[in-house]
Amino acid sequence: MEEYKKKKILCVGLVCLDIINVVEKYPEEDTDSRCLSQRWQRGGNASNSCTVLSLLGAPCAFMGSLSSGYVADNINTGSRTILHMNSFIMADFSRRDVDVSAVVLQVEGQTPSACCVVCPASGSRTVILSDTNLPDVNAEDFSKVDLHQFKWIHWEGRNAAQQVQMIQQVELFNRPLPPQERIMLSVEIEKTREPLYQLFPHGDLVFVSKDVARHFGFQSAGAALKGLYSRVKQGAVLVCAWAEEGADALGPDGVVLHSGAFPPETLVDTLGAGDTFNSAVIYTLSNGGSLQDALTFGCRVAGRKCGFHGYDGIAEMSAL
Ligand code: ADP
Ligand code: FRU
Repeated sequence: MEEYKKKKILCVGLVCLDIINVVEKYPEEDTDSRCLSQRWQRGGNASNSCTVLSLLGAPCAFMGSLSSGYVADNINTGSRTILHMNSFIMADFSRRDVDVSAVVLQVEGQTPSACCVVCPASGSRTVILSDTNLPDVNAEDFSKVDLHQFKWIHWEGRNAAQQVQMIQQVELFNRPLPPQERIMLSVEIEKTREPLYQLFPHGDLVFVSKDVARHFGFQSAGAALKGLYSRVKQGAVLVCAWAEEGADALGPDGVVLHSGAFPPETLVDTLGAGDTFNSAVIYTLSNGGSLQDALTFGCRVAGRKCGFHGYDGIAEMSAL
């Protein structure tokens, strides 16, 4: 049992470079303005979730793609830029003590990057992501990973058909094991893309976003959970976060649990609030906490995170 506890949490999904502009006021279209500050930050949902897990004190690993830096049409400037981005990203994973041995370097495609506008005055975060041609990690890549190291695997919904095959590999791995030694599976369905909805029946824990809930016509987290619960597998938990309104969860007992949000004194940076929430929920459940504790801790850590730039301040919260 002690050995199981020490195992890692693996997050599978996107890593990208976020170029974050902090602005006083969200700009008008076709204007030219100065930002208050600009920084580079490692981004991507699964990558951010690793940052938060690590800051909370959970051993974790990231699996996703980076470009190898070979750019056929622009071998000099293009590849140099990618290698610079990659080394920034890899150094940052290392600074956070995230295991990157499952990262796949792709020969084709470019490392994704995002222009982010963070506006503390309104609390908005606007992201334009360039994620056009880098292949995602697939079921074959996943089959090379030694699953014995993990107690929990989380998938950020992306190449869903391949991700379902990865999940099936874990189910095969789990089959001979006693329940308490099995790898727990969670999936995040954040984007309103039809193929992602095939992930609903594949997690022990499923995170569905406000955007997806609204897309299905639901106007609150509670309504979304009741309306979407029939899509998850038997015994699974469905969770839906709703920004300032906190988050709700529904498990097999049919009772909708709720936690209110924990707004910071001053709203500063909501970029990655959802990724923070997800990891704090996974962190609590993977340590044997209750679903209500997980929901409350998720909202508490995510709310506090909105009160500072980036993620560093989370380190002080692990004792909560
Ligand atoms: P995202 O849009 O980043 O995916 P959400 O907006 O759904 O994520 O927020 C996830 C969680 O973060 C919420 O459940 C809430 O606890 C917290 N959160 C987000 N925005 C705020 C806010 N403005 N004030 C307080 N907490 C917030
Ligand atoms: C935050 C985030 C950013 C990234 C964007 C990708 O949740 O992961 O780090 O730029 O979303 O959609």
